[in-house]
Amino acid sequence: MTLLDAATEVRKNAYAPYSRFKVGAALRGKSGAVYQGCNVENVAYPEGVCAEAGAISAMVAAGETEFVELCVIADSPTPVPPCGGCRQKLAEFGRPEVPVTLATTDGKKLQTTVGDLLPGRFDAGHMDRA
Ligand code: THU
Repeated sequence: MTLLDAATEVRKNAYAPYSRFKVGAALRGKSGAVYQGCNVENVAYPEGVCAEAGAISAMVAAGETEFVELCVIADSPTPVPPCGGCRQKLAEFGRPEVPVTLATTDGKKLQTTVGDLLPGRFDAGHMDRA
């Protein structure tokens, strides 16, 4: 199964009764294993969790802390960009050169990288004097 297939499959399980905007994400861990996540909303809106965050949680829960590829899919007019918070979360576990595919359900694709999603990222090196 491709990463796009995995993201497409898990998107069907998204719980998005408030926005009605279903998102699926799939990460490939360094081991080769695939981890899936979908958005899970809440009636208390800020408590909702993005698809990317769910996939990261699945990866870490399985004992991996590095991914080498990411795919995100949604039914949007143009490929959906991860939110700011998710960009920082992705930067925690993916090197800047890691390829990211942003896709739409009607077949559009945008290829980018973890580094391009978050230039000037805050990382552990900034705390070297702490
Ligand atoms: N959402 C994601 O899950 N990932 C993204 O990259 C963009 C937005 C979700 C959050 C919320 O459940 C819905 O899409 C609308 O913002």
